[in-house]
Amino acid sequence: MKVLVTGGAGFIGSFLVERLVGLGHQVVVIDYLTRGSRENLSRIVDSIDLIEADVSEDKVVDIALEGCHIAYHLAGMSQVMTSVRQPDLCFKYNMVGTYKVAKACVAKQVKLVFTSSREVYGNIERLPATEDDKLMAVNPYGASKIAGESIIRAYANTYDLDFVILRLANVVGPKDFGRVIPILLKQCLVNGPLTLFGGHQILDFVGVLDVIEALIQTQDTSGVTVNIGSGVGVNIVDLANLLKRLTGSRSEIVFADRRQEEVERFTTDISLAQKLLGWKPKTSLEDTIKWVIKSGITS
Ligand SMILES: NC(=O)c1ccc[n+]([C@@H]2O[C@H](COP(=O)([O-])OP(=O)(O)OC[C@H]3O[C@@H](n4cnc5c(N)ncnc54)[C@H](O)[C@@H]3O)[C@@H](O)[C@H]2O)c1
Repeated sequence: MKVLVTGGAGFIGSFLVERLVGLGHQVVVIDYLTRGSRENLSRIVDSIDLIEADVSEDKVVDIALEGCHIAYHLAGMSQVMTSVRQPDLCFKYNMVGTYKVAKACVAKQVKLVFTSSREVYGNIERLPATEDDKLMAVNPYGASKIAGESIIRAYANTYDLDFVILRLANVVGPKDFGRVIPILLKQCLVNGPLTLFGGHQILDFVGVLDVIEALIQTQDTSGVTVNIGSGVGVNIVDLANLLKRLTGSRSEIVFADRRQEEVERFTTDISLAQKLLGWKPKTSLEDTIKWVIKSGITS
């Protein structure tokens, strides 16, 4: 198969591209290299077609999609706090970009797999979150993902777009940077302070290789929106202590004010993923963190 991966030079995208190449697929990547890099693809860069371009610009996706059977759309602004600082860019990349991808997929009759986020739920009261819960995003990033999902479902209803949407929880693995685990790990390694905002957060972490399996397993399913996570809630203080233990760090935990833009508590219900995709996570958080430490911290 010929496969398009937007955002394929990023953290999750580069693991997906490696896996697809390993399965023998021909892979085209569109990446603007805002957060992603060629280095992330260094092991397979000669086997793929890498287009350095912005998916929200006209014609970019249409040209890249030529001859493709499936498009994985991962490109976009991927961090909450960046979206708070740059909401215009967030909506351009995530909303307009997703609209351009959906439109091109309809025109070329290509299946679209979209990585949405647990941020669409915001601070819902009853956990774990199921796919039928209300979407109550509390930051521009979450709102842009709700918009992206809505565009895709509207295109499916109106123009017969074949799609799968995965709502990812917090993804963990090597090559990531600027998110809670790589930031805290970096501090652990220099015995620096571990700053926790609020200190009461509950997060749901899933290993990147488990996410890649879920993305691959979407190929036999259509027209569904599915949560992908571990289903396990991890308290942020317990996480900090786990990171200290695994690195042998003498770091101290310090508390700062809670950030209003961030979701306070989240765990995901993964029963639909088990039922529709035959998927469940195989790796524990502790093993994934050990792998990250062994691979070297990039942040
Ligand atoms: N990492 C997580 O915990 C997580 C959780 C939920 C959802 N997601 C979603 O999964 C996808 C991949 O996330 P990631 O962690 O690999 O993020 P990432 O930032 O590492 O990767 C995104 C990639 O998209 C590229 N990009 C950004 N805007 C672009 C544009 N307009 N045109 C072309 N390329 C562009 C970046 O250069 C980067 O390589 C994103 O859509 C993100 O919102 C990630």
